Amino acid sequence: MAEVTFKDVAKRYGAVSIIEGLNLDIRDHEFLVLVGPSGCGKSTALRMIAGLEEISGGTVSIGGRVVNELPPKERDVAMVFQNYALYPHMSVRENLEFGLKIRKTPRPEMDKLVNEAADILDIRHLLDRKPKQLSGGQRQRVALGRAIVRKPAVFLFDEPLSNLDAKLRVAMRAEIKKLQQRLQVTSVYVTHDQIEAMTMGHRIAVLKEGKLQQLGTPLEVYERPANVFVAQFIGSPPMNFMAATLDANGATLVGEGFTLPVPQSLRAVTAGKGGKKVKVGIRPDHLLQPGQALRGEGATVQTHVEIIEPLGNELIVHSRLGEFSLVFRMPPQQPPEMGATLPVVVELDSLQLFDAETEQRLTP
Ligand SMILES: Nc1ncnc2c1ncn2[C@@H]1O[C@H](COP(=O)(O)OP(=O)(O)OP(=O)(O)O)[C@@H](O)[C@H]1O
Ligand SMILES: [Mg+2]
Repeated sequence: MAEVTFKDVAKRYGAVSIIEGLNLDIRDHEFLVLVGPSGCGKSTALRMIAGLEEISGGTVSIGGRVVNELPPKERDVAMVFQNYALYPHMSVRENLEFGLKIRKTPRPEMDKLVNEAADILDIRHLLDRKPKQLSGGQRQRVALGRAIVRKPAVFLFDEPLSNLDAKLRVAMRAEIKKLQQRLQVTSVYVTHDQIEAMTMGHRIAVLKEGKLQQLGTPLEVYERPANVFVAQFIGSPPMNFMAATLDANGATLVGEGFTLPVPQSLRAVTAGKGGKKVKVGIRPDHLLQPGQALRGEGATVQTHVEIIEPLGNELIVHSRLGEFSLVFRMPPQQPPEMGATLPVVVELDSLQLFDAETEQRLTP
């Protein structure tokens, strides 16, 4: 039993509010990713669970017990940091043993736990080395090992992969996910990388300026972002946005340099909203080439090619429509000419509408 609960949690430094009214239920065995841009309060939230940061308001509970006043070592959590935080003068084995020794774990038990963790992480052959004799990936494995041996109720990860090169990061991402599946320990994982969030989390919590924007499975957040911020933060390339106004009948979206019909599937949303200003969102995947298979209704617009980014297996094309830039994918075989006029089919049933003022989602 180790769910983690934030109830109306606030964090202030003097008069400056960092986190406000944070409510979040992290389930037992869950892998929850806390994601958001730099400075939004991710580490602060994590450090409040760990007991490294005082809580200014509300309560944090672990396994049903309020821990606000509990010192870190009594919270039964283990944290893995970005910089590994290994003791440089100790061998890998001693680093792994350190937390156990503090808890006065008997030697045979300690050996068993260390060997188990070393096997899981495949670092048995490194046990006698010092941290400086290890690669970045190996160090991160040892840091994970230190968290595992303690068999805590909760793992806390603060951007543990950001010091690794891109390739290793992808490999370790999969390993941490596998590790969590195997050990089933409730985990809270902080990152500013939306791809890590999407690929690792059972659910992801998107944070902006200390406020929770959305909590959901990766698919829910991707397909039905709660607001413009989440829509632009999750997904790569990000969702395209165009400002538009609904015509008097709520049947056409009129923007600077384009018009798009509102498809039947969205008429219920726009009915009676003539004159309303909206932000029209469309994912790159829903901007197609003429002749490509389409879900529901489509409308062809003429765009002007501005930038082409070849990725080998595909092209990322930035093309202008009126005053807006649309980004989408194309097959690499016949790249369009720079500056050319390129017809693009907008999959109308995949349009997402947001209120221009509140930026909240309007489409169901
Ligand atoms: N001791 C402090 N005193 C005052 N403000 C602080 C203190 N520690 C952090 N902050 C502020 O709190 C906000 C949240 O910081 P936090 O470290 O939680 O962000 P983060 O989301 O983890 O960012 P990053 O992705 O850059 O690690 C930041 O604006 C930061 O400047
Ligand atoms: Mg941080």
